[in-house]
Amino acid sequence: MSSSPQQRLTFLITGCSSGLGLLLSRLVLDQGHNLIATSRAPSRTPNAINEILSHPGAGSRQWRQLDVNDLSTPKLIHDLEASGVAIDVLVNNAGFSIHAPAELLEDDELGGMMDTMYFGSARLIRAVLPFMRQRKKGVIVNMSSGAGLEGRESMSGYAAAKAALDGFSKVLAKEVASFGVRVLTVHLGAFDTTMGANSRSGRKYIQGGIPDAYVGSMADQITKTLTGGNLASVAEGDPNKAVKAVFDVIVGEGVGFGKEKERMLPLGRDVNKRVKEVIGGYQNALNVFGDICNNVNKD
Ligand SMILES: NC(=O)c1ccc[n+]([C@@H]2O[C@H](COP(=O)([O-])OP(=O)(O)OC[C@H]3O[C@@H](n4cnc5c(N)ncnc54)[C@H](OP(=O)(O)O)[C@@H]3O)[C@@H](O)[C@H]2O)c1
Repeated sequence: MSSSPQQRLTFLITGCSSGLGLLLSRLVLDQGHNLIATSRAPSRTPNAINEILSHPGAGSRQWRQLDVNDLSTPKLIHDLEASGVAIDVLVNNAGFSIHAPAELLEDDELGGMMDTMYFGSARLIRAVLPFMRQRKKGVIVNMSSGAGLEGRESMSGYAAAKAALDGFSKVLAKEVASFGVRVLTVHLGAFDTTMGANSRSGRKYIQGGIPDAYVGSMADQITKTLTGGNLASVAEGDPNKAVKAVFDVIVGEGVGFGKEKERMLPLGRDVNKRVKEVIGGYQNALNVFGDICNNVNKD
C-alpha cells in the first residue's frame, strides 16, 4: 500500500484523532511522506495513534499533543524546526460546530469556534511561515467549509469562524505567493465523518430557551439533524474521496496535476450548488445595484 514519492514532504496536521485528519494522516503515510499527526488529547485515541505509528509507510511519523486553542502552539513548530524537521505542509484541520439560531448563541460559544478555527489556525500559520518563507517552499491548507461561503441555518458561529480564516487566507495567499508559499482553502460540503457526533447544540437551545418563533424552523431542524447523530443521513460526501482529492491537489498529482497554483478547492455536490448561489447572489447584487455601485466615486 505504501509508495515512494519523488519528493518526500513533511505534513503537520491538526485534529488527527478522527475524521478527515485521521484519514489524511493515513494517506500521507500510504504515499510515503513524513507525518506529524497531532491531537489535543492523545490518551483518548490509543488505537488511532498505534495504527499511525505502526504504519508500514517509508516516511517518518510522530504523534504530538496539540490543542490549537493553546497560545503556546507555535513552540511545537519552533521545536520541530530546531530539531531539523522542515514542515512542508501545514494542514489546519481541527474544528467543531455549535448549532442554534444565531439569536441564541452566546459569547463564549462564538468565541470558542473562533478560537479553534480562526485564531488557532492563524497562530500556527504565523509560526510556520518564516520557515517556509526562508526555504521558499511550503503549502498551508485550511479545511474550511461551504458554510464560510453560504452557511445553512443554525451555523452562524461556525460559518463566521470559517469565513474569518478564509478571509485571512485570501490575503495571505497574495502576500506569500512570491515567496513560493501556497495557501489552499478547501471548501468542504457535508461529509460523513465523526463531525456530527462532535457537534453540539448551543447552551440556551439545550436549556429550552428556544423562542416559539424558532420551533420547527429550518435552524431548529438542522440543529436537531446535525447534533442528533444524523449527519450521515444528509452527508452525501465520501470522506476518503475528499481526502484523496485534497492530497492530490497539495502534491500536484492525480486530479491535482498542473493545478498547483489554485487557491480554492470546492468539494462535494452540495458545495458546487452553494458556490453557484454565491456567484448568483453577487451577480444579482450587481444587477440591482450596479449603477449605484459605480456612481459613488469622487467626480
Ligand atoms: N465533515 C464535514 O461534513 C465537514 C464539512 C465542512 C468542513 N469540515 C471541516 O473539516 C475539518 C475536519 O472535520 P471532520 O469532519 O473530520 O470532523 P471530526 O471527526 O469531528 O474531526 C474534527 C477534529 O478536530 C479536532 N479538534 C477540535 N477542537 C480542537 C482543538 N481545540 N485542538 C485540536 N484539535 C481539535 C477534534 O479532536 P477531538 O477528538 O479532541 O475533539 C477532531 O479530531 C473540520 O475543520 C471541519 O470543520 C467538515
